[in-house]
Amino acid sequence: QEIMKGSFSTFMQKEIFEQPDSVVNTMRGRVLPNGQVVLGGITDYLPDIKRCRRLILVACGTSYHSAIACRQILEELSELPVVVELASDFLDRQTPIFRDDVCMFVSQSGETADTLMALRYCKPHGALTIGITNTVGSSICRESHCGVHINAGPEIGVASTKAYTSQIVALLMFALTLSDDRISMQSRRNHVVQALRELPEMIRRVLQLDSQVSSIADQIYKEKSLLVMGRGFNFATCLEGALKIKELSYMHCEGIMSGELKHGPLAMVDEHLKICMVICQDEVYKKSLNALQQVVARSGVPMIIADESVPLSDLAGMKQVLRVPRTVDCLQSILTVIPLQLLAFHIAEKNGFNVDRPRNLAKSVTVE
Ligand code: G6P
Repeated sequence: QEIMKGSFSTFMQKEIFEQPDSVVNTMRGRVLPNGQVVLGGITDYLPDIKRCRRLILVACGTSYHSAIACRQILEELSELPVVVELASDFLDRQTPIFRDDVCMFVSQSGETADTLMALRYCKPHGALTIGITNTVGSSICRESHCGVHINAGPEIGVASTKAYTSQIVALLMFALTLSDDRISMQSRRNHVVQALRELPEMIRRVLQLDSQVSSIADQIYKEKSLLVMGRGFNFATCLEGALKIKELSYMHCEGIMSGELKHGPLAMVDEHLKICMVICQDEVYKKSLNALQQVVARSGVPMIIADESVPLSDLAGMKQVLRVPRTVDCLQSILTVIPLQLLAFHIAEKNGFNVDRPRNLAKSVTVE
């Protein structure tokens, strides 16, 4: 099967712009008109999954960030302890695993050695294993008890984009299936399902920011360093946005939990340091504004990714603001990460770097 770039300059750019469709493919046939969510690949195991004592998500790279993005909603809807692990560290620690654990392995390729080794480590301990992959027939798919295909379509660019947003959608659907019999959660669930239906259109609107993002890239593509700050549901966006920029632009870029600012990162802030802050009207809004105040008080001039409902008057006079539509908290990170995918792409292009094949990296790392 030949995959074409069409009118796009690179596969990565094509895959970024495919996201309104790839998230639909992830949901297809799974989000029913009555609001029920059905994931065929785990149905037989659902009673066992619901009885477990702990959910452990294991992954590397971008896939790890999708697990971070969904941890809070998984905790909320399953009412279980949810642990997110980097596969390499999970193995280094020989983490204790029990029969009543459910271990989930998130991997675009389904072949990442560290993640696969972690799966092979968990099985003899009697845990139930679930693969969340984009590749039918992959090793993780075959060796786990059950799983969910994210159906994002083939991803060619080494830097993952559409697989990331589809992983979030898949994990969110998983959280919804765990809570389908909880009466007390129905209104929350309905709200999330409605937002899933509106997601493709919202992603389309975010993609219209492309030229604005490109002009920001014009200003910063020669910088040495960029910090991306946020918290709550948007922390994953900071980590993933920073990873995209590192991978593609070879620029030092760090995702920072803004709750940790005063424990170190604030020391770096001055009028020269490039900063991006993610601020949305969610449960941590007041705290996010407080972080902005702290940065501005040290002469920082961050660019801001905010949802449309954030009043300009709250943004301390900052001029560079990228506005994304507002959605339910647990899906907001999909909308806030896309401007950073675009930023990474434009910075790399302006530097003349190979966008689809960044130096020193591989799409699928099959050695430990
Ligand atoms: C490599 C790729 C990353 C990817 C990571 C995990 O490092 O360059 O883009 O996120 O592997 O890959 P997986 O296929 O397991 O999601």
